[in-house]
Amino acid sequence: MINQKEFARRRRQLMRTVGEGAMVVVPAAPVRQRNSDVEYPYRQSSDFHYLCGFPEPDAVLVLIPGRAQGESVLFCREKDPERETWDGPMVGLEDACSEFGMDDSFPYSDIDDILPNLMEGRERLYYSLGREKDFDQRVLEWVAKVRQQVGKGARPPEEFVSLDHHLHDMRLYKSRSEIASMSRSAKIAGEGHLRAMRACRPGVTEYELTAELLFSFHRHQAQPSYQPIVGGGANACVLHYIRNSEPLNDGDLVLIDAGAEYDHYASDITRTFPVNGRFTTAQRDIYQVVLEAQEAAIAAVQPGNSCQAPHDAAVKVIRKGLAALGITTGRGRKKPEGEAYRKYFMHKTSHWLGMDVHDVGDYQIDGHPRELEVGMALTVEPGVYIQPDARVPKAFRGIGIRIEDDVVVTRNGPRVLSSGVAKTVDEIESVMA
Ligand code: GLY
Ligand code: MN
Ligand code: MN
Repeated sequence: MINQKEFARRRRQLMRTVGEGAMVVVPAAPVRQRNSDVEYPYRQSSDFHYLCGFPEPDAVLVLIPGRAQGESVLFCREKDPERETWDGPMVGLEDACSEFGMDDSFPYSDIDDILPNLMEGRERLYYSLGREKDFDQRVLEWVAKVRQQVGKGARPPEEFVSLDHHLHDMRLYKSRSEIASMSRSAKIAGEGHLRAMRACRPGVTEYELTAELLFSFHRHQAQPSYQPIVGGGANACVLHYIRNSEPLNDGDLVLIDAGAEYDHYASDITRTFPVNGRFTTAQRDIYQVVLEAQEAAIAAVQPGNSCQAPHDAAVKVIRKGLAALGITTGRGRKKPEGEAYRKYFMHKTSHWLGMDVHDVGDYQIDGHPRELEVGMALTVEPGVYIQPDARVPKAFRGIGIRIEDDVVVTRNGPRVLSSGVAKTVDEIESVMA
């Protein structure tokens, strides 16, 4: 868990970066209505949570570096006993200060009157425009309100800066406690994967394996960090297959891509295994190529390496492996073809991982892939997908394999958070036996 000291440290760091004279505005995620009295499950905005850990909607965090009466200000709902009868306890204005380290708190219902006054005299406004249209509109109205007072000496902000760059660069480097939450998230997801492996046999359905995953997640107070993918046979070749509606057949593989979200931190794990517990020769051949590619890519997760290095390492192995199996090289063509592998491995090997499964943070600096640094977390997930109608030896058709782990860059090289989940052919066959 992230403690209040760490939330406060993040706010201080951000305020130092934006400097005196700035104002930072970060809204909580809105509640989204599904139908009449039913809401979609609430998930706090990652940016907002990162800076204060406050759990409710109808809240806005305002950072005002250098403000004498207090730099961290929260607008939130006032406690309302009638509402609490229906929805449970609310934090309220007082506890926003005592429990969440705010210097000042105001009722959310008064924000239109108070925020323009706080904004007056601030030179730069840091806000992520273009995410929540309704909130964008309100920010513009607050600026307009200060403008209307210019005749009376009011000074509206002159510079409007996207908050994303600074805030997301902070989020890219994970602290010790963030890595602890991510590790827990990976452990929980790993348990779900092992549960699904053990429950799998011919005739079981994709949705029953989905249920095994969800059982493990919920039993540890976690949720899925994205819609789980459970694809048997050629369904594994549909990269975003989420229908999970079919029975699993003897002789096929099943690909499961499922991660948990624990304490607002995501894991993202993929394993591919035989429905009946034993790989066929063709399946094993492809599996070994993907596994070797993944191991080479993980080994490339080193501080100082380009963030492109894991992908380059995976491509090298897959290019060679597919050629050796006669998938990219027809009879009489011995040389691995340059880009031919792309037909079977059409996605990137890695993305940043954190509070969001495809986490924030730039991949390039000045047009070049950035270097991996200690504390960054990323997935390593090469795959090979051979469509059922591909013009390759028949035994390979309809095979889709991806292996995905969650890796943190440490001084001593890669630390794999998801290492507890069976991955080699022998490990998988023994878990399923
Ligand atoms: N589960 C989404 C991904 O692997 O990127
Ligand atoms: Mn995944
Ligand atoms: Mn992923």
